[in-house]
Amino acid sequence: MKDFSAQYRLYSDAFERMLGEFCANMRFRPAVLADGMRYSLLAGGKRIRPVLFFATLDAFGMPYETERGLALALECIHTYSLIHDDLPEMDNDDLRRGKPSNHKKFGTGNALLAGDALLSLAFDLALAECGRDEAHLQAARALSFAAGAEGMVSGQSADLFYEGKEAGEEELAFVVERKTARLIAAPVEMAALLAGRDRTCARTYGNALGALFQITDDLLDVKGDEGRLGKTPGKDSAEQKLTYIKVYGREGAERLADEKAAEAERALAGFGEKTQFLRKLVAAVRGRER
Ligand code: IPE
Ligand code: IPE
Ligand code: MG
Ligand code: MG
Ligand code: MG
Repeated sequence: MKDFSAQYRLYSDAFERMLGEFCANMRFRPAVLADGMRYSLLAGGKRIRPVLFFATLDAFGMPYETERGLALALECIHTYSLIHDDLPEMDNDDLRRGKPSNHKKFGTGNALLAGDALLSLAFDLALAECGRDEAHLQAARALSFAAGAEGMVSGQSADLFYEGKEAGEEELAFVVERKTARLIAAPVEMAALLAGRDRTCARTYGNALGALFQITDDLLDVKGDEGRLGKTPGKDSAEQKLTYIKVYGREGAERLADEKAAEAERALAGFGEKTQFLRKLVAAVRGRER
């Protein structure tokens, strides 16, 4: 295997080509709608969800270049969640992916609608895959579960609910599993479904990695640097969010991150031989600076 960063770039470049072409052909009207959608999609995220999808397919010996629709759907849902997350009525963030947040650039109404359109577009893309076979239909269902009222939207609702409230480990685990972990686990599970492999190990790996991802997100909010992060640090305490720092303290959060990393690595035992990249990805998320 190439070194980890080169392999990550291989997957993310494959995805960027698909996304670039998709965005270049976007002709929605009025132009402000397409412009707002493209602006956030192309602002340059880490693309970890499509990378996880491609890497897991690869680990299972499946081609990934043919899975354009579901990969784009994943990133459309994630990007819409960020646009809405930044709105003044939610986290009130002015900076995203190193650029003014969507609502800062296009206004709140347009930002809401760009998010709505990305969500609908995601399911248009996913539905177009469903005719291929039963496995694609199952994968699309896994995505809708992770995105909606059992997944990210539920977590975002709980995130708002617990703002400024005293709550503990159990409530935090509920918020994070839903707002973040399910949409990180989804690509791993979707790949397992397409490959006809065990879905339980995929889910265990994805959920542990997803929790780790949010712990490091919360840690970066207190110790990260705006230039590298591409978002404003210190926002969580300003908005009185229920975070790992609030519940466990900074050291406790670092310890829990190590535990979640170990849990994710253990789950890889059920994946077969080709787990090197997925193992290194855990370490990369543990040590990330953006
Ligand atoms: C940020 O997600 C929101 C969380 C779930 C913590 P990412 O850190 O994946 O954001 P981008 O896509 O790289 O901008
Ligand atoms: C993740 O939580 C939210 C989403 C599901 C979009 P955060 O609110 O902590 O994400 P950031 O820090 O704004 O990226
Ligand atoms: Mg939020
Ligand atoms: Mg936020
Ligand atoms: Mg955050």
